[in-house]
Amino acid sequence: MRILLTGGAGYIATHTIVELCNAGHDVTVVDNFCNSQPAALKRVARIIGREVPYYEADVADSAAMERIFSENTFDAVIHFAGLKAVGESVHQPLRYYRNNLDATLTLCETMAKHGCKRLVFSSSATVYGVPDEVPLREDMFCKGCTNPYGWTKYMIEKILMGIAEADPDWSVVLLRYFNPIGAHESGLIGENPNGIPNNLMPYITQVAAGHLEKLSVFGNDYETPDGTGVRDYIHVMDLAAGHVAACDYAGCHSGCEIFNLGTGIGYSVMDIINTFERVNHIPIPYVIAPRRDGDVAACYADPTKAKEVLGWQAKRSLEDMCRDAWHWQSLNPDGYSDKQ
Ligand code: NAD
Ligand code: WQD
Repeated sequence: MRILLTGGAGYIATHTIVELCNAGHDVTVVDNFCNSQPAALKRVARIIGREVPYYEADVADSAAMERIFSENTFDAVIHFAGLKAVGESVHQPLRYYRNNLDATLTLCETMAKHGCKRLVFSSSATVYGVPDEVPLREDMFCKGCTNPYGWTKYMIEKILMGIAEADPDWSVVLLRYFNPIGAHESGLIGENPNGIPNNLMPYITQVAAGHLEKLSVFGNDYETPDGTGVRDYIHVMDLAAGHVAACDYAGCHSGCEIFNLGTGIGYSVMDIINTFERVNHIPIPYVIAPRRDGDVAACYADPTKAKEVLGWQAKRSLEDMCRDAWHWQSLNPDGYSDKQ
């Protein structure tokens, strides 16, 4: 298939390009580089052995999207483009709603006009809100989100469901990612957050690198086995493989389907620290800090549907995730800003 990746220079998309190309697909990227750099695509090119064609454009720019669809014929689109920082979305809600919703609406209008009606969307476990029970299944009622970022994902899911319901030619796959971490085994691509990381694994790798002094563990009095928060961490290369399966599925089904992409295993913050220290032989100094607003005690997937319907399941271990996250960080202390 010829596949357009919106937000294709970002963390998850760059890893997905590698898996799509390994599976024989052709990719084109559109990204405005608001949270990434063309250098990431150069690194992907080193892994796959060929250049990644890309357009620098905003997905909400209908003239630019019209040009991209006029110059190419796509069989499917994977829509990664979006702003994703939970805390930032609380302070800049309008920017998040404008960017994430506009990009999706413009993309879908352009796709419909050009008769490209297969879409895989980057949704998030955040749409489950504060769960009543875990593991989370796709058919569970989503009571509402705790931040504007989450609401954009929730709203976009509803928009895409409506589009697929109104026109049976559409095939939409909503992928609810849990907590992607790790990096490609080569260490050439990985997560490259701006400034001080908000998420656990990039924070840990920066403590390990000596850029940050110590980790704050947000709460050790949750109702979990060791009191720290439990999440479903998934290796980004497993997540990438899930997109290949989702594209195959979209190629031969219509309607709208939702899939959790997680391992189904919950690990605590202390599990992550201990495993990282053990596999990388680096101590991670930490202090126990108050709970972070908006955090839940435990969040992990029931990944049965993806296994049964897509034939996909995560293969890599927490050890792999910790080793590969550190491999990327140690080879790239300044992210993509060097000349490698
Ligand atoms: P990322 O920021 O690395 O990638 C997103 C990319 O989209 C960036 O390259 C950015 O420049 C681009 N972009 C943003 N708005 C754009 C626009 N209007 N036009 C063109 N390009 C635009 O993030 P990621 O971690 O790779 O996440 C990819 C997708 O997966 C996002 O939609 C995110 O919300 C979703 N997601 C991420 C996580 C996670 O923990 N990383 C979890 C669940 C869902
Ligand atoms: C994981 C655990 C923290 C940092 C977020 C988004 C979610 C999705 C994935 C996009 C929690 C603890 C963290 C730190 C800590 N993204 N922690 N000290 O919050 O589960 O999910 O990313 O869709 O929407 O909310 O991930 O990595 O921030 O936190 O103790 O410095 O680590 O309390 O238990 P989270 P995270």
